[in-house]
Amino acid sequence: MEVIITSEGSIGELVADDIAALLAGKPDAVLGLATGSSPLRIYDSLAARVQRGDVSFARARGFTLDEYVGLPAGHPCGYRTVIDDEFVSRVDFAAGAVRAPDGAASDLAAEAESYDRSITEAGGVDLQILGIGTDGHIAFNEPGSSFASRTRVKTLTEQTRRDNARFFGGDIDAVPRHCLTQGLGTIMQARRIILVAIGKGKAEAVHQLVEGAVSALWPATILQHHPHVTVLIDAAAASRLQLAGYYRYAYANRVAVA
Ligand code: F6R
Repeated sequence: MEVIITSEGSIGELVADDIAALLAGKPDAVLGLATGSSPLRIYDSLAARVQRGDVSFARARGFTLDEYVGLPAGHPCGYRTVIDDEFVSRVDFAAGAVRAPDGAASDLAAEAESYDRSITEAGGVDLQILGIGTDGHIAFNEPGSSFASRTRVKTLTEQTRRDNARFFGGDIDAVPRHCLTQGLGTIMQARRIILVAIGKGKAEAVHQLVEGAVSALWPATILQHHPHVTVLIDAAAASRLQLAGYYRYAYANRVAVA
C-alpha cells in the first residue's frame, strides 16, 4: 500500500493524472466512481481536462459504489443524481455508460445481484476511486461487513447517518437507514484502488486502514490484502499515522517503475 501525504488540491490533480494515464493507454477503461465530498477535486480536475481536450471518457464506462434505498429517482441527495451533477454531466461519457445501483428497485436483492454481475460482465473495474467513512466503511460496507460480501442491502450506522446529514440539510431523520452497496469482495476485484481522505475527522479511520489489524471492526482494513492500493491523504487525515515520516520519506524518494 502506497501512502501519499499532500495537499487537498494536489490530491485531485494526482488522481486525475492517474485516470488520464489509464485512459491514454486504455480508452475503454472501466472506472469505479465514489460519491461524497472526498472525490470532488478529482472530478473538477477531470472536467477541466476534458474541456481542454486533454482527456476523453467517450469510450470509458463507470460504476458507482452505492445508493440510498428509498429515495425517489431524481432526489438531489441520491448518489445517481450526485454523480451525474458532479461528474458525468461535466465530461463526455456516452449515454448510459455510467451505471449506478437502483435504490428504488422493487426487488432490491435482484437489483443487487444484477448490478454485481454487470460489473463482471464489463470486464471488471480497472481503477476504483474510494473515500472512507469515519467508522472505517468503504462504499457503505459498515463495520461487521463480510470480507467476501457482494453487492447487497446494508443498514447504515447512526454515525454514517450523522456524518451524511450535512447533505440532507443537517436533518439526520431525512437520511435513509438502508442502502445498496457493492460488497468488500466486489471492490477487492478492482485491478487498482485509489482511496482519498481529507480532514482530521478521517484520521483514526486512515490510521486503522493503513496500520491497524485487519478486522471487521474497520472494514477498510481489507485493502491491506489488495496488491495495488494508493492512499492519498492531507496532513490532517494523516495526523494519527505512526509511520507518517516514513511515508513522506518514501514518496520523496520514490523510484519511477516502468
Ligand atoms: C460514497 C461512499 C462512501 C464515502 C464515505 C466518505 O459513494 O461510498 O464510502 O466515500 O462515506 O464520504 P465523504 O467523502 O463525503 O467524506
